Amino acid sequence: MDHFLYQNGALHAEDVPVAEIAAEIGTPFYLYSTATLLRHYRLFEEALSGTDHLVCYAVKAASNIAILKTLGDAGAGMDVVSQGEYLRARAAGVPGERIVFSGVGKTADEMRVALAGGIRQFNLESEPEMEALNAVALEMGKVAPVTVRVNPDVDARTHAKISTGKAENKFGIPIARASAVYARAAALKGLDVVGIDVHIGSQLTDLAPFEQAYAKVAALARKLRAEGHDIRRLDLGGGLGIPYDRTNEAPPLPVEYGAMVKRVVGDLGCEIQIEPGRLIAGNAGIMVSRVIYLKQGEGRDFLIVDAAMNDLVRPAMYDALHEIVPVTEPRPGIERAPLDVVGPVCETGDTFARAVPLPPLAAGDLVAFRSAGAYGAVMASEYNSRPLIPEVLVKGDRFAVIRARPSFDEMLKRDTMPAWL
Ligand code: LLP
Repeated sequence: MDHFLYQNGALHAEDVPVAEIAAEIGTPFYLYSTATLLRHYRLFEEALSGTDHLVCYAVKAASNIAILKTLGDAGAGMDVVSQGEYLRARAAGVPGERIVFSGVGKTADEMRVALAGGIRQFNLESEPEMEALNAVALEMGKVAPVTVRVNPDVDARTHAKISTGKAENKFGIPIARASAVYARAAALKGLDVVGIDVHIGSQLTDLAPFEQAYAKVAALARKLRAEGHDIRRLDLGGGLGIPYDRTNEAPPLPVEYGAMVKRVVGDLGCEIQIEPGRLIAGNAGIMVSRVIYLKQGEGRDFLIVDAAMNDLVRPAMYDALHEIVPVTEPRPGIERAPLDVVGPVCETGDTFARAVPLPPLAAGDLVAFRSAGAYGAVMASEYNSRPLIPEVLVKGDRFAVIRARPSFDEMLKRDTMPAWL
């Protein structure tokens, strides 16, 4: 459920008409709902109630500091994968003890920043990384809390580009090597081993792969305890999918996910951590765009809008489908015609959807791309020299620009001339 609904014939974000925001700030832009962000965060909180747990929002999904502060003020922890994300979480007021640092390629500089600023744990992904963190911690006179991310070799049955838990993926250490790696970690004075980490992929629409992975983690926790390690925290990653297309069967709900987690790992008495990104932010954001032209093609018609693949890359990159709806509510029963919805970028890949049945639309009309809150703005680029589009946050009947649209001047001024030109 989200808070982008038609009221009196017009699409609203909570209590604000989307068209009103478009008139004030221009198009295209990303628009987020505070109520949806908080609702989705709380669904995970409730799903894990009765356990010692922390929900760490995966910052990579939508990293605007206002979004992080909205969630952080509600009690969320943060999962970060770079110095930039760490600094964003801190700028949002999230204390270090609620921030976990994931990612396969943390540099010594990034480790230093997080150790100095405070960190709940590093999720280590390789032995060289383990040695590097130990060296950094010893040099700083600190002990770094760590988990090791294990690769359970399960098929997440999601898009190949976002599957991370198969043996051939670059993530984690093979679970069969865990005993040796944990023994080495325990011998390093700069590290404090607190638990185990796993993350098998994103946009999972079935609980079975999670359950397979978590059962392997539970067995490993028992084995490592028997080998003398104080395994007290399990980080189970993110990955629960969202309904992008309302005509398809909906993925499992957080409450179903939580029940499975409790059933599979509950008896270990570990603190449970999860890292959901998409489920919290995905349906909490839309991208609003304006129709530039309606163009007749050979056997198909094109709706050319002012947003493009550089603003929302998911359709071009993962063949993702974002539902497209007019901002003015179509009359019930109105005839719909199939349109290819495309952006102005000079690539055929700049196609948001093919042959979508849409009601009559004309130049100047507004459309919204739903489910664009996660991996939307954060993956945008300036390709074709199109400045990054702004982000807006709604709360009740108020809205605020949380990232301004850069001027063309600002964009051009970033380039500098060498002395010889
Ligand atoms: N934890 C780790 C270690 C991750 O790598 C990820 C996502 C998450 C948590 C959050 O997963 P989520 O709950 O959002 O599924 N750009 C792609 C998605 C990439 C996901 C990368 N890792 C997309 O647009 O579909």
